[in-house]
Amino acid sequence: MKTGLCAGVLMACFAVADVTQAADAEAGRSIVDRWCAACHITADGNADSRVVRGTDAVPTLSSIARNPNRSPNWLRQWLSSPHPPMPDLNLSRSEIDDVIAYLQEMAR
Ligand code: HEC
Repeated sequence: MKTGLCAGVLMACFAVADVTQAADAEAGRSIVDRWCAACHITADGNADSRVVRGTDAVPTLSSIARNPNRSPNWLRQWLSSPHPPMPDLNLSRSEIDDVIAYLQEMAR
């Protein structure tokens, strides 16, 4: 019984950790660096290696972030389903929320 209770408390802790992670712009940045920077220029005027990898054919993430037609809901839908030529990135809902939080920070 005692161990059962302990496990329950632990689970609750993990659940709380998940919630606080739900929209974490820092986590979004590392997802973007890992999964999006190969194609999308991640920040305008930043002369780092990511800019070299991005191409003009793909909209920059900051132009997407500043586009008033690209609301968080629109982005969530875009990132939830495959859009060739963009690969299906298989992001979880919380990863998508992190990426959106990062894009919103970028738009400021
Ligand atoms: C393999 C290259 C590639 C990768 C990796 C990639 N994208 Fe894309 N992305 C594209 C291309 C190409 C387009 C343009 C598609 C089109 O307009 O039909 C695009 C379009 C988009 C758009 C829509 C832009 C608009 O305004 O229409 C969003 C948002 C986007 N990408 C976000 C992301 C995010 C976030 C990631 C990382 C999680 C990512 N992409 C990873 C190639 C990629």
